[in-house]
Amino acid sequence: MKIAVRYYSKGGNTKKIALAIAKAVGVEAKPITEPLSEDVDILFLGTAPYAFDVDDNVKKYIQNISVHVGKAALFSTAAGLKSIRKYVAKYFDEKNIPLDNNEFSCRGSYLMFHKGRPNADDEQNAVQFARKIIS
Ligand SMILES: Cc1cc2nc3c(=O)[nH]c(=O)nc-3n(C[C@H](O)[C@H](O)[C@H](O)COP(=O)(O)O)c2cc1C
Repeated sequence: MKIAVRYYSKGGNTKKIALAIAKAVGVEAKPITEPLSEDVDILFLGTAPYAFDVDDNVKKYIQNISVHVGKAALFSTAAGLKSIRKYVAKYFDEKNIPLDNNEFSCRGSYLMFHKGRPNADDEQNAVQFARKIIS
């Protein structure tokens, strides 16, 4: 099974989760500046929400996917939001890439809130999520 992990992370919180997921599934986590170069069965795509949306670079990344992706699974860190699905679903739809119903989200530090998050428990939960997605 071919698996890829891509992330967009301004401050490093989502990258931390990307690294945990990538390690669990045995691939390298890469930023979305690195396009997929070959077909994959599963794409783990992670970002944080910024101002109740995802960054335009994330939307463009999805729009520019030029290989076959069997399905995508989302992960995010956020101060409050628990899902990024509604911000990216239409872009995956346009590409006919199914989104797994399962999505991982955890708190990410923001200003004085959620200091230390994501923490080791969050990383472990992300690992469990990743294992479930690929099983
Ligand atoms: C400019 C900005 C806007 C944000 N807007 C939101 C938001 O709308 N909803 C939310 O839950 N968190 C919001 N956050 C918090 C981030 O999503 C959170 O800190 C996340 O963990 C950052 O991930 P990163 O370190 O991978 O960039 C915002 C953070 C920043 C810096």
